[in-house]
Amino acid sequence: MSVAPVVQMQDIWKTYDTGAVEVHALRGVDLEIAAGEYVAIIGPSGSGKSTLMHIIGCLDVPTAGEYLLDGEDVAELNENQLAEIRNKRIGFVFQQFHLLPSLDARRNVELPLVYAGVGAVERSARALKALEQVGLSERAEHRPGELSGGQQQRVAVARALVTNPSIILADEPTGNLDSVSTNDMLGLLSELHAQGRTIILITHDQEVADTAQRIVYVRDGQITADSAQNKPQNEVVHLDNAVSRAAGDVKTAEVIKVAGVAKAGKAAKAGKAVVL
Ligand SMILES: Nc1ncnc2c1ncn2[C@@H]1O[C@H](COP(=O)(O)OP(=O)(O)OP(=O)(O)O)[C@@H](O)[C@H]1O
Ligand SMILES: [Mg+2]
Repeated sequence: MSVAPVVQMQDIWKTYDTGAVEVHALRGVDLEIAAGEYVAIIGPSGSGKSTLMHIIGCLDVPTAGEYLLDGEDVAELNENQLAEIRNKRIGFVFQQFHLLPSLDARRNVELPLVYAGVGAVERSARALKALEQVGLSERAEHRPGELSGGQQQRVAVARALVTNPSIILADEPTGNLDSVSTNDMLGLLSELHAQGRTIILITHDQEVADTAQRIVYVRDGQITADSAQNKPQNEVVHLDNAVSRAAGDVKTAEVIKVAGVAKAGKAAKAGKAVVL
């Protein structure tokens, strides 16, 4: 029996009509993500990453195209059903943590369960379990102001986990963290992936993206390369040309066969030729 992809997008467009101008934030995105994948979506500022995340997370709807989440056509759902999907199937982690300062860690983690109508005793037990999963059991009674940035982000991950969602969707989760906390957070995401969770990580940082199993490159509202597909696409071709020029005579340069675009990027930085 084949399992439907968690995310299945076909020819997704998102146009913002600001009155004077139309901004095509997404221009024909095709994307499939299977259950259990750890995917990084990387691209420069303004390339459409957050727009894509908002659509994946049902925070916004596409202008055109088809999006199936867990095999279900999102366009068919009303606002209440979308809210339920956001609550139960998607765990969000944001750059700014978005914790409520007056609530301790446990109560912050309980919030999605409050909205889902789960009773107090079960809520508390599940929140404590989620905090244990992120290694913060001892801080359950601490408020965000009494926690470090890295710890606050771990509380946010616990809050994302507590409903046992199909997808953890993280938009620049390390954007406000120092390098130690960044490594800590990336370690935690890898651990959750190893436990079988589907993780979609949005970043503009190649090193952060490199920790994922698959990297999808976004530029000007389009997917320009996908390490899972291993086929030459715009960005790779540019890279390849640039590297060939830099290397001069390819015969004398080290030639590497690579499967992934990320590796090609690394090879290019090292001044090596890339064969795709
Ligand atoms: N609500 C909006 N109204 C009009 N234009 C928008 C809106 N949101 C985003 N855009 C435009 O859509 C494009 C994509 O924006 P988006 O926020 O998705 O980029 P991003 O890749 O997340 O960038 P960053 O790395 O800076 O967060 C940009 O040109 C942006 O100005
Ligand atoms: Mg963004």
